[in-house]
Amino acid sequence: MNLFDLSGKTALVTGGNGGIGYGIAEGLAQAGADIVIAARNKTKTSDAVGAIRELGVKVKGIEVDVADEASIRNMAKGAADLTGHVDILVNNAGIGIRKLPQDYQLEDWNKVLDINLTGSFLCARELHSHMKENGGGKIINIGSMTSIFGLDWAVAYASSKGGVVQLTKTLAVTWARDNIQVNTILPGWIHTDLTRGIREDFPDRYTHILSRIPDGRWGEPADLAGTSVFLSSQASNYVTGISIPVDGGYTSF
Ligand SMILES: NC(=O)c1ccc[n+]([C@@H]2O[C@H](COP(=O)([O-])OP(=O)(O)OC[C@H]3O[C@@H](n4cnc5c(N)ncnc54)[C@H](OP(=O)(O)O)[C@@H]3O)[C@@H](O)[C@H]2O)c1
Repeated sequence: MNLFDLSGKTALVTGGNGGIGYGIAEGLAQAGADIVIAARNKTKTSDAVGAIRELGVKVKGIEVDVADEASIRNMAKGAADLTGHVDILVNNAGIGIRKLPQDYQLEDWNKVLDINLTGSFLCARELHSHMKENGGGKIINIGSMTSIFGLDWAVAYASSKGGVVQLTKTLAVTWARDNIQVNTILPGWIHTDLTRGIREDFPDRYTHILSRIPDGRWGEPADLAGTSVFLSSQASNYVTGISIPVDGGYTSF
């Protein structure tokens, strides 16, 4: 028996058309899962679907805005159409708006919270009854180093990512009886579009962060694949409500 085999499982990855979400979708597909990629940008989604198809699994792209409840409902229906079931939900879609707390507008605050925290809650709530009826499921939420640490230009982002950890614990203890395991991955500093601005516009900050990473490098999206496969597979059936840093040692330094 291969504890990490995901053959016959279907994974829905929000924000799976690029960055960390794509790294996770690719890892789950390599472990045998069929994949649904849900995000806003149709071109990026179509490219990601094409690349995942090369891995020999079933794959589908769906347009969704996780800040919109009706859009999430459509996404859940469309996702279940691929194979008849969704076994794994990865709440990965997320954004950041960088400003100091004293300069933050309510509109920006709400936008970040709506996508990063409320969106994760709504996607999980939408899939709950489906997973329960199917005998169980796996939900992976994506937190951040700012689930743990404060960060001057990330007041809404850090608040949303702290909330994601508590959302995870609450869903985990409530849905354990439905055989749904809910966990959080806390990515460290990963090269993606989200962090491109740090690298290009704030090289001193980029280098300072690098100097704090024991592994001596920023992470790549593929670094998130292994932990995602573990948390999606039967290997983690007695693991729920926890947060796993995937950070090259950053939180231990
Ligand atoms: N990079 C890091 O160092 C790092 C560290 C810790 C945590 N994270 C978290 O990892 C996740 C992925 O981030 P990333 O670094 O990979 O950034 P990214 O490359 O910018 O990816 C963000 C993804 O979210 C999707 N998205 C954004 N808003 C959405 C919405 N309203 N509805 C649906 N999809 C939406 C985007 O696709 P569309 O634009 O097509 O919708 C994109 O696929 C985020 O939750 C982020 O907070 C990143």
